[in-house]
Amino acid sequence: MRQRIIMDVDTGVDDSLALLYLLASPEAEITGIAATAGNVPAAQVAINNLAWLELAGAPDIEVALGAVEPLEVPLRTTEDTHGPQGVGYAELPAPTRQISARSAADLWVASAREHPGELIGLCTGPLTNLALALRAEPELPRLLRRLVIMGGAFNHPGNTTPTNEWNIHVDPEAAKIVFDAFSAAPADRRPIVCALDITETIEMRPAHLTRLAERAGSLPIETVSPDDPPGARSAADNPIIRHVTDAVRFYFDFHQAYDLGYLAHMHDPFAAAVALDPALACTRPATVDVELAGTLTRATTVADWAGMWGRPPNADIVVATDPDRFFDRLIARIGDFARARIPGDSAPDRVAAEPG
Ligand code: RIB
Ligand code: CA
Repeated sequence: MRQRIIMDVDTGVDDSLALLYLLASPEAEITGIAATAGNVPAAQVAINNLAWLELAGAPDIEVALGAVEPLEVPLRTTEDTHGPQGVGYAELPAPTRQISARSAADLWVASAREHPGELIGLCTGPLTNLALALRAEPELPRLLRRLVIMGGAFNHPGNTTPTNEWNIHVDPEAAKIVFDAFSAAPADRRPIVCALDITETIEMRPAHLTRLAERAGSLPIETVSPDDPPGARSAADNPIIRHVTDAVRFYFDFHQAYDLGYLAHMHDPFAAAVALDPALACTRPATVDVELAGTLTRATTVADWAGMWGRPPNADIVVATDPDRFFDRLIARIGDFARARIPGDSAPDRVAAEPG
Protein backbone atom coordinates (compact mmCIF):
# COMPACT_ATOMS: atom_id res chain seq x y z
CA MET A 1 0.00 0.00 0.00
CA ARG A 2 1.28 3.48 -0.79
CA GLN A 3 2.38 5.61 2.13
CA ARG A 4 0.23 8.73 2.55
CA ILE A 5 2.34 11.75 3.45
CA ILE A 6 1.64 15.41 4.11
CA MET A 7 4.52 17.81 3.47
CA ASP A 8 4.99 21.03 5.41
CA VAL A 9 7.69 23.01 3.62
CA ASP A 10 9.32 26.42 3.21
CA THR A 11 10.53 25.84 -0.37
CA GLY A 12 13.52 26.38 -0.52
CA VAL A 13 16.13 24.74 -2.73
CA ASP A 14 16.42 21.61 -0.60
CA ASP A 15 12.66 21.55 0.03
CA SER A 16 12.35 21.40 -3.78
CA LEU A 17 14.50 18.26 -3.87
CA ALA A 18 12.37 16.77 -1.07
CA LEU A 19 9.24 17.29 -3.16
CA LEU A 20 10.84 15.75 -6.25
CA TYR A 21 12.10 12.82 -4.18
CA LEU A 22 8.59 12.04 -2.92
CA LEU A 23 7.05 12.54 -6.38
CA ALA A 24 9.66 10.13 -7.72
CA SER A 25 8.96 7.52 -5.02
CA PRO A 26 6.27 5.07 -6.15
CA GLU A 27 5.50 4.08 -2.56
CA ALA A 28 4.63 7.69 -1.65
CA GLU A 29 1.25 9.38 -2.03
CA ILE A 30 1.49 13.08 -1.22
CA THR A 31 -1.92 13.96 0.23
CA GLY A 32 -1.19 17.68 0.50
CA ILE A 33 1.45 20.37 0.86
CA ALA A 34 1.41 23.03 3.58
CA ALA A 35 3.26 26.18 2.50
CA THR A 36 5.00 27.62 5.55
CA ALA A 37 6.77 30.98 5.74
CA GLY A 38 10.48 30.54 6.26
CA ASN A 39 13.10 30.64 3.56
CA VAL A 40 10.70 32.91 1.67
CA PRO A 41 7.16 34.18 2.47
CA ALA A 42 4.36 31.60 2.53
CA ALA A 43 2.76 32.84 -0.70
CA GLN A 44 6.04 32.36 -2.57
CA VAL A 45 6.44 28.91 -1.00
CA ALA A 46 3.00 28.00 -2.34
CA ILE A 47 3.83 29.28 -5.83
CA ASN A 48 7.10 27.34 -5.83
CA ASN A 49 5.34 24.09 -5.01
CA LEU A 50 2.60 24.61 -7.57
CA ALA A 51 5.29 25.38 -10.16
CA TRP A 52 7.37 22.27 -9.37
CA LEU A 53 4.23 20.10 -9.42
CA GLU A 54 3.27 21.34 -12.89
CA LEU A 55 6.82 21.12 -14.22
CA ALA A 56 6.98 17.53 -12.98
CA GLY A 57 3.65 16.61 -14.53
CA ALA A 58 2.45 15.62 -11.07
CA PRO A 59 -1.19 15.11 -10.18
CA ASP A 60 -3.19 18.04 -8.84
CA ILE A 61 -1.93 17.86 -5.25
CA GLU A 62 -3.51 20.35 -2.83
CA VAL A 63 -1.20 23.21 -1.81
CA ALA A 64 -2.47 25.16 1.21
CA LEU A 65 -1.26 28.55 2.35
CA GLY A 66 0.21 28.79 5.83
CA ALA A 67 0.20 31.64 8.34
CA VAL A 68 1.81 34.84 7.13
CA GLU A 69 3.88 35.24 10.30
CA PRO A 70 5.32 32.96 13.01
CA LEU A 71 3.27 32.62 16.19
CA GLU A 72 4.85 35.43 18.17
CA VAL A 73 7.80 36.99 16.35
CA PRO A 74 8.04 38.85 13.03
CA LEU A 75 8.87 36.68 10.01
CA ARG A 76 12.51 36.45 9.02
CA THR A 77 13.25 35.09 5.53
CA THR A 78 16.56 34.11 3.92
CA GLU A 79 16.64 34.94 0.24
CA ASP A 80 20.43 35.15 0.44
CA THR A 81 20.45 31.40 1.07
CA HIS A 82 17.78 30.16 -1.33
CA GLY A 83 17.49 32.93 -3.93
CA PRO A 84 15.02 35.78 -4.47
CA GLN A 85 12.10 33.39 -5.09
CA GLY A 86 13.46 30.57 -2.95
CA VAL A 87 14.51 28.30 -5.83
CA GLY A 88 18.02 29.56 -6.39
CA TYR A 89 18.72 30.67 -9.94
CA ALA A 90 15.88 28.54 -11.32
CA GLU A 91 13.15 30.42 -13.17
CA LEU A 92 10.24 28.00 -12.94
CA PRO A 93 7.34 28.37 -15.39
CA ALA A 94 4.54 30.24 -13.62
CA PRO A 95 1.94 27.75 -12.37
CA THR A 96 -1.61 27.75 -13.71
CA ARG A 97 -2.97 25.75 -10.77
CA GLN A 98 -4.52 27.55 -7.78
CA ILE A 99 -3.78 27.22 -4.09
CA SER A 100 -6.31 25.52 -1.83
CA ALA A 101 -9.21 27.44 -0.32
CA ARG A 102 -8.33 26.09 3.12
CA SER A 103 -5.39 26.98 5.34
CA ALA A 104 -2.32 24.86 5.94
CA ALA A 105 -3.42 24.16 9.52
CA ASP A 106 -6.85 23.06 8.31
CA LEU A 107 -5.16 20.81 5.75
CA TRP A 108 -3.14 19.16 8.53
CA VAL A 109 -6.20 18.54 10.72
CA ALA A 110 -8.50 17.35 7.93
CA SER A 111 -5.85 15.04 6.45
CA ALA A 112 -5.02 13.43 9.79
CA ARG A 113 -8.71 12.91 10.62
CA GLU A 114 -9.38 11.48 7.15
CA HIS A 115 -6.63 8.88 7.49
CA PRO A 116 -6.43 8.08 11.23
CA GLY A 117 -3.26 6.18 12.05
CA GLU A 118 -2.07 6.19 8.42
CA LEU A 119 -0.69 9.63 7.62
CA ILE A 120 3.01 10.44 7.72
CA GLY A 121 3.85 14.07 8.47
CA LEU A 122 7.05 15.56 7.05
CA CYS A 123 8.16 19.01 8.23
CA THR A 124 11.06 20.64 6.42
CA GLY A 125 10.37 24.23 7.41
CA PRO A 126 9.40 26.17 10.53
CA LEU A 127 6.72 24.47 12.65
CA THR A 128 4.24 27.35 12.69
CA ASN A 129 1.40 25.58 10.90
CA LEU A 130 1.86 22.25 12.66
CA ALA A 131 1.62 24.14 15.96
CA LEU A 132 -1.59 25.83 14.80
CA ALA A 133 -2.93 22.43 13.76
CA LEU A 134 -2.08 20.98 17.18
CA ARG A 135 -4.03 23.80 18.85
CA ALA A 136 -7.03 22.90 16.67
CA GLU A 137 -6.63 19.13 17.07
CA PRO A 138 -4.70 18.06 20.21
CA GLU A 139 -5.16 14.43 19.13
CA LEU A 140 -2.85 14.94 16.16
CA PRO A 141 0.10 13.04 17.75
CA ARG A 142 -2.12 9.95 18.01
CA LEU A 143 -3.79 10.44 14.65
CA LEU A 144 -0.49 10.57 12.76
CA ARG A 145 1.30 7.32 11.91
CA ARG A 146 4.71 9.02 11.90
CA LEU A 147 6.17 12.53 12.09
CA VAL A 148 9.58 13.45 10.67
CA ILE A 149 11.01 16.88 11.42
CA MET A 150 14.03 18.47 9.76
CA GLY A 151 15.20 20.90 12.40
CA GLY A 152 17.36 21.62 15.39
CA ALA A 153 20.97 21.05 16.31
CA PHE A 154 22.03 19.08 19.38
CA ASN A 155 25.70 18.18 19.78
CA HIS A 156 26.47 20.43 16.80
CA PRO A 157 26.76 24.15 16.01
CA GLY A 158 23.77 26.04 14.71
CA ASN A 159 23.52 27.43 11.16
CA THR A 160 21.63 30.61 12.01
CA THR A 161 23.09 31.58 15.40
CA PRO A 162 25.95 29.75 17.11
CA THR A 163 23.47 27.34 18.69
CA ASN A 164 20.21 27.34 16.71
CA GLU A 165 19.04 25.99 13.40
CA TRP A 166 16.97 27.94 10.84
CA ASN A 167 13.61 26.14 11.03
CA ILE A 168 13.52 26.42 14.82
CA HIS A 169 15.01 29.95 14.74
CA VAL A 170 12.14 31.28 12.61
CA ASP A 171 9.44 30.12 15.04
CA PRO A 172 10.78 28.74 18.35
CA GLU A 173 7.40 29.08 20.09
CA ALA A 174 5.88 26.78 17.49
CA ALA A 175 8.70 24.27 17.87
CA LYS A 176 8.17 24.13 21.63
CA ILE A 177 4.45 23.52 21.16
CA VAL A 178 5.22 20.63 18.81
CA PHE A 179 7.80 18.91 21.02
CA ASP A 180 5.64 19.41 24.13
CA ALA A 181 2.62 17.93 22.32
CA PHE A 182 4.55 14.72 21.69
CA SER A 183 5.70 14.41 25.32
CA ALA A 184 2.98 11.87 26.01
CA ALA A 185 3.22 10.12 22.63
CA PRO A 186 3.81 6.37 22.64
CA ALA A 187 7.34 5.27 21.69
CA ASP A 188 6.34 4.41 18.12
CA ARG A 189 4.82 7.87 17.55
CA ARG A 190 7.72 10.00 18.71
CA PRO A 191 8.88 12.47 16.02
CA ILE A 192 12.00 11.37 14.13
CA VAL A 193 14.24 14.45 14.22
CA CYS A 194 16.75 15.05 11.43
CA ALA A 195 18.94 17.77 12.92
CA LEU A 196 22.04 19.51 11.59
CA ASP A 197 24.20 16.94 13.42
CA ILE A 198 23.33 14.55 10.59
CA THR A 199 21.92 16.69 7.75
CA GLU A 200 25.18 18.59 7.48
CA THR A 201 26.82 15.29 6.53
CA ILE A 202 24.48 15.06 3.52
CA GLU A 203 26.76 17.05 1.24
CA MET A 204 25.61 17.31 -2.36
CA ARG A 205 28.50 18.09 -4.69
CA PRO A 206 28.61 18.86 -8.45
CA ALA A 207 29.37 15.22 -9.19
CA HIS A 208 26.01 14.24 -7.71
CA LEU A 209 24.23 16.59 -10.12
CA THR A 210 26.23 15.15 -13.01
CA ARG A 211 25.21 11.61 -11.99
CA LEU A 212 21.61 12.77 -11.76
CA ALA A 213 21.69 14.20 -15.29
CA GLU A 214 23.28 10.99 -16.62
CA ARG A 215 20.60 8.88 -14.90
CA ALA A 216 17.93 11.06 -16.47
CA GLY A 217 19.48 10.74 -19.91
CA SER A 218 19.67 14.50 -20.05
CA LEU A 219 21.98 16.27 -22.51
CA PRO A 220 24.37 17.96 -22.51
CA ILE A 221 25.98 16.46 -19.43
CA GLU A 222 27.22 19.40 -17.35
CA THR A 223 29.47 19.68 -14.33
CA VAL A 224 28.67 22.77 -12.30
CA SER A 225 31.83 24.56 -11.19
CA PRO A 226 32.67 27.57 -9.05
CA ASP A 227 34.82 28.67 -12.01
CA ASP A 228 31.79 28.92 -14.33
CA PRO A 229 31.23 32.46 -15.60
CA PRO A 230 28.83 34.59 -13.54
CA GLY A 231 25.28 34.04 -14.69
CA ALA A 232 26.00 30.52 -15.93
CA ARG A 233 22.80 28.52 -16.33
CA SER A 234 22.06 24.94 -17.29
CA ALA A 235 21.38 24.04 -20.92
CA ALA A 236 20.12 20.57 -20.04
CA ASP A 237 17.37 19.41 -22.38
CA ASN A 238 15.54 17.74 -19.52
CA PRO A 239 13.49 20.47 -17.80
CA ILE A 240 13.61 18.90 -14.35
CA ILE A 241 17.39 18.49 -14.57
CA ARG A 242 17.77 22.02 -15.96
CA HIS A 243 15.79 23.71 -13.18
CA VAL A 244 17.26 21.53 -10.42
CA THR A 245 20.77 22.37 -11.65
CA ASP A 246 20.02 26.10 -11.64
CA ALA A 247 18.43 25.87 -8.19
CA VAL A 248 21.27 23.91 -6.61
CA ARG A 249 23.98 26.07 -8.22
CA PHE A 250 22.74 28.99 -6.07
CA TYR A 251 22.96 26.77 -2.97
CA PHE A 252 26.53 25.75 -3.91
CA ASP A 253 27.45 29.43 -4.24
CA PHE A 254 25.91 30.17 -0.84
CA HIS A 255 27.76 27.37 0.96
CA GLN A 256 31.05 28.39 -0.68
CA ALA A 257 30.49 32.02 0.31
CA TYR A 258 30.33 30.87 3.94
CA ASP A 259 33.51 28.76 3.62
CA LEU A 260 31.60 25.47 3.79
CA GLY A 261 32.96 24.31 0.43
CA TYR A 262 31.40 24.15 -3.02
CA LEU A 263 28.63 21.86 -1.83
CA ALA A 264 25.05 21.97 -0.60
CA HIS A 265 23.64 20.41 2.56
CA MET A 266 20.59 18.42 1.46
CA HIS A 267 18.71 18.61 4.75
CA ASP A 268 15.18 18.22 3.41
CA PRO A 269 15.38 15.41 0.85
CA PHE A 270 17.20 13.38 3.50
CA ALA A 271 14.29 13.94 5.89
CA ALA A 272 11.90 12.95 3.08
CA ALA A 273 13.83 9.73 2.48
CA VAL A 274 13.70 8.93 6.21
CA ALA A 275 9.97 9.65 6.27
CA LEU A 276 9.45 6.89 3.69
CA ASP A 277 12.11 4.54 5.09
CA PRO A 278 13.19 5.15 8.71
CA ALA A 279 15.67 2.27 8.32
CA LEU A 280 17.94 4.78 6.55
CA ALA A 281 18.64 6.34 9.95
CA CYS A 282 19.89 5.21 13.33
CA THR A 283 18.05 7.07 16.08
CA ARG A 284 18.34 7.56 19.83
CA PRO A 285 15.47 8.62 22.11
CA ALA A 286 15.74 11.86 24.07
CA THR A 287 13.63 14.49 25.72
CA VAL A 288 13.77 17.60 23.55
CA ASP A 289 12.83 21.10 24.63
CA VAL A 290 13.34 24.50 23.04
CA GLU A 291 14.99 27.46 24.76
CA LEU A 292 12.76 30.53 24.47
CA ALA A 293 14.22 32.94 27.02
CA GLY A 294 17.96 32.76 26.51
CA THR A 295 19.51 36.01 25.32
CA LEU A 296 22.28 34.13 23.51
CA THR A 297 20.53 30.77 23.15
CA ARG A 298 16.93 31.54 22.17
CA ALA A 299 15.54 28.92 19.71
CA THR A 300 18.20 26.40 20.66
CA THR A 301 16.98 22.79 20.79
CA VAL A 302 18.19 20.97 23.89
CA ALA A 303 18.25 17.16 24.15
CA ASP A 304 18.17 15.41 27.52
CA TRP A 305 19.59 12.02 26.51
CA ALA A 306 19.89 10.64 30.06
CA GLY A 307 16.57 11.53 31.70
CA MET A 308 18.08 14.26 33.91
CA TRP A 309 14.87 16.28 33.67
CA GLY A 310 12.76 13.32 34.79
CA ARG A 311 10.59 13.68 31.68
CA PRO A 312 9.88 10.84 29.24
CA PRO A 313 11.50 10.96 25.79
CA ASN A 314 9.46 12.88 23.19
CA ALA A 315 11.72 12.44 20.16
CA ASP A 316 13.89 9.95 18.32
CA ILE A 317 16.91 11.91 17.14
CA VAL A 318 18.84 10.65 14.11
CA VAL A 319 22.41 9.97 15.24
CA ALA A 320 23.87 8.11 12.25
CA THR A 321 23.22 7.43 8.55
CA ASP A 322 25.01 6.51 5.30
CA PRO A 323 25.04 9.61 3.03
CA ASP A 324 26.21 7.63 -0.02
CA ARG A 325 23.31 5.21 0.34
CA PHE A 326 20.94 8.17 0.47
CA PHE A 327 22.46 9.85 -2.61
CA ASP A 328 22.33 6.59 -4.58
CA ARG A 329 18.61 6.41 -3.80
CA LEU A 330 17.97 10.09 -4.57
CA ILE A 331 19.81 9.94 -7.90
CA ALA A 332 18.13 6.72 -8.97
CA ARG A 333 14.64 7.91 -8.10
CA ILE A 334 14.72 11.51 -9.31
CA GLY A 335 16.86 10.56 -12.32
CA ASP A 336 14.40 7.89 -13.48
CA PHE A 337 11.48 10.21 -12.71
CA ALA A 338 13.00 13.03 -14.78
CA ARG A 339 13.78 10.69 -17.66
CA ALA A 340 10.19 9.47 -17.77
CA ARG A 341 8.85 12.99 -18.16
CA ILE A 342 10.52 13.70 -21.48
CA PRO A 343 8.24 12.98 -24.44
CA GLY A 344 9.57 10.08 -26.48
CA ASP A 345 12.88 8.72 -25.43
CA SER A 346 15.48 11.14 -26.66
CA ALA A 347 17.74 9.90 -23.88
CA PRO A 348 20.82 7.89 -24.83
CA ASP A 349 21.21 4.34 -23.57
CA ARG A 350 20.83 4.19 -19.82
CA VAL A 351 24.03 4.44 -17.84
CA ALA A 352 24.88 1.59 -15.51
CA ALA A 353 21.99 1.08 -13.13
CA GLU A 354 22.59 2.36 -9.59
CA PRO A 355 21.07 0.94 -6.46
CA GLY A 356 17.79 2.65 -5.85
O1 RIB B 1 18.48 24.60 8.52
C1 RIB B 1 18.15 23.97 7.31
C2 RIB B 1 16.69 24.06 7.06
O2 RIB B 1 16.31 25.43 6.98
C3 RIB B 1 16.27 23.44 5.72
O3 RIB B 1 14.98 22.94 5.83
C4 RIB B 1 16.29 24.62 4.79
O4 RIB B 1 15.40 24.47 3.68
C5 RIB B 1 15.79 25.71 5.68
O5 RIB B 1 14.36 25.62 5.73
CA1 CA C 1 13.26 23.80 4.35
